[in-house]
Amino acid sequence: MAEALVTPEEVRILARERKAVILAHNYQRAEVQAVADVVGDSLELARRAAAVDAEVIVLAGVRFMAESAAILAPGKTVLLPRPDAGCPMADMITAAQLAEWKAENPGVPVVMYVNSSAEVKALTDVCCTSANAVEVVRSLGVPRVLFGPDRNLGQWIAGQVPDVEVTVWNGCCPIHDRVSLEMVREAKVAHPGAPVIAHPECRPEVSAEADAVLSTSQMIRWAQKAGEPEVIVVTEGGLLTGLAKAVPDTRFIGIIPAMICPNMKLTGLEDVRNALRDLTGQVVVPGEVASAARASLERMTAIG
Ligand code: 13P
Ligand code: SF4
Repeated sequence: MAEALVTPEEVRILARERKAVILAHNYQRAEVQAVADVVGDSLELARRAAAVDAEVIVLAGVRFMAESAAILAPGKTVLLPRPDAGCPMADMITAAQLAEWKAENPGVPVVMYVNSSAEVKALTDVCCTSANAVEVVRSLGVPRVLFGPDRNLGQWIAGQVPDVEVTVWNGCCPIHDRVSLEMVREAKVAHPGAPVIAHPECRPEVSAEADAVLSTSQMIRWAQKAGEPEVIVVTEGGLLTGLAKAVPDTRFIGIIPAMICPNMKLTGLEDVRNALRDLTGQVVVPGEVASAARASLERMTAIG
């Protein structure tokens, strides 16, 4: 006999019984966002994980987010409901590659996007997210940084902080990087007058075409203030859920189906229920890696 459908109530009851908090990224499926205690961008999720007093953290997102939560909340049980939910960009730089890059550039500080592995963070001076990348680089007061793994975010930072030389690693988000200027211009023709908001993981020419370049949660706050009838949204389609909820009077135009991240869509309500019920999908970062990575993450959460 097929198993009965998982209800949101069942998930919430289990979360209470387990003394668990459910943190969901803005790109998660609508039904997962609906059962979450917090829905946010990478910076907000990292900060909430660090501050949480629950015993269990369910991180509905991708692996690097769960690793960051485990690093920032030592002693808590951190569960990734779909252990196969990765981020292809995070796999584009390994610890061995970073070690070699550092050796070739002695003394140059390393700023690493949180979309990276715990081992890479352990070799990093300071992490950043899309929400605070510019502030993080500016705060260092140095003439040059190594930035990885996202070349597009790196180029965006370079444009915002012209007195710092940003040497970028050649990685990218396959979802954001596949959006061309033509695709954005087509959306503008179809929706004349609609402003464009883009994520800094987009190609430089797409970011240059946007009215604002923002993290996912910053996009929601921007739209709340703007009160526009229509807005073109150049980021992963899951954000349309939060935007529609926060600003029901605005019509949000996504770049769909191009901008769907399969990894962000893996987690369903059943996976969240199973993780809570069976305490499966635990993410553990080994001690030495965790303490080195914690230093670079804590420097980040203190900024911006
Ligand atoms: P935000 O931190 O802006 O939510 O972005 C995370 C991410 O993975 C973007 O693809
Ligand atoms: Fe990684 Fe891109 Fe998916 Fe974000 S949208 S999790 S950067 S692949």
